[in-house]
Amino acid sequence: MEPAVLPHGGHLVHRVLTGEARREALLRSRFLPRLLLSPRALSDLELIGVGAYSPLVGFLGREDYESVLTSMRLRDGTVWPIPITLPVDEELARRLRAGQEAALVGEEDGVVYGVIEITEVYPYDPRREAEAVYRTTEDAHPGVRRLYAQPGRYVAGPVWLLDRPKREGFQKYCLDPAEAREAFRRRGWRTVVGFQTRNPIHRAHEYIQKSALEIVDGLFLHPLIGETKADDIPAEVRLRSYEVLLEHYYPRDRVLLSVYPAAMRYAGPREAVLHALVRKNYGCTHFIVGRDHAGVGRYYGTYEAQHIFKNFKPEEIGLTLLFFENSFYCEKCDGMASEKTCPHPAEYRSLLSGTKVREMLRRGEKPSPKFTRPEVAEVLIRGLEEKGVAVHGA
Ligand code: ADX
Repeated sequence: MEPAVLPHGGHLVHRVLTGEARREALLRSRFLPRLLLSPRALSDLELIGVGAYSPLVGFLGREDYESVLTSMRLRDGTVWPIPITLPVDEELARRLRAGQEAALVGEEDGVVYGVIEITEVYPYDPRREAEAVYRTTEDAHPGVRRLYAQPGRYVAGPVWLLDRPKREGFQKYCLDPAEAREAFRRRGWRTVVGFQTRNPIHRAHEYIQKSALEIVDGLFLHPLIGETKADDIPAEVRLRSYEVLLEHYYPRDRVLLSVYPAAMRYAGPREAVLHALVRKNYGCTHFIVGRDHAGVGRYYGTYEAQHIFKNFKPEEIGLTLLFFENSFYCEKCDGMASEKTCPHPAEYRSLLSGTKVREMLRRGEKPSPKFTRPEVAEVLIRGLEEKGVAVHGA
């Protein structure tokens, strides 16, 4: 009873070396050039290795990169919205040759996480990439700022994953795409809706998830836990908030909580396409895109991340998108609603932004239960206090 969803590009990529092959690669790696991976590049390596980025088998070469920038497709026509690239500095790049292997080393811990079979080293134009991917060249945008700060050459080629980042505290929620598919199969779920989030789950999130749960077999709650911007709520704190929410408000057998080890790019519409394709690789048949998905500040229109899908035929995306309007609590309706279901004027509606809630939580203030479940608010305030983020009485 496998969910009827093929991985993007037709099959699930698996580029993880184990046993003797891994030992040999590790031995070889001692004599190879060492390329240092930022936390984001490391999470990209892992996601390629486990097949979350299927059909990618490595970091993009120049032709694919160009094609992704200009047409949101790999050069063979497969939809791919965001270039997955490995930046290295020019000095090191000059010493690298196509046909050579290099070791992929975590910049924070010096661990050899993988190897790359180099096919190409090429320069790129950060402003052009910013304009294409982020629709802005302003460095106030966190994704653009990151892009401008990275070194000036890309190294391309297929990779092999040799090791995984540890992830203390998250292990029991780590599932690779093949494992997630197997978990859905064991539960007998034929239809599964994927939910991306980088935030605590507020009532609006809960409302759209539960609306989806009315029509599919299961919810794959898949919070992103890789690098996020500094003022987002830390992943460890969020994880506890998800646990407490599920315990009190969701039927246990209809939700699978698992973590998505990617970094956030804040690329809005293009990232929504990436998020959908990746969740298809994890086995989801449906995917939720709500208001300003993967957005930041005022860079993207409220529904641009939904409109972008008009560029593709449904079969090119390959899973069913569930688009939701901006949701809120309405006093008069006495419940959650959206423009589509509620006829009342603005004064009845509680529309709190995630940013405002984060500010309240940091001050140790509990947001209204119309916005955040009290159990969740408590866990968040306590978690932020422990991390030294909350400022009481401020
Ligand atoms: S995101 O960067 O991961 O997209 P967030 O965690 O806030 O941010 O959103 C998770 C999902 O919920 C996204 O699909 C987003 O569009 C949707 N969403 C968030 N808030 C609302 C809301 N008030 N109404 C409808 N959809 C929402």
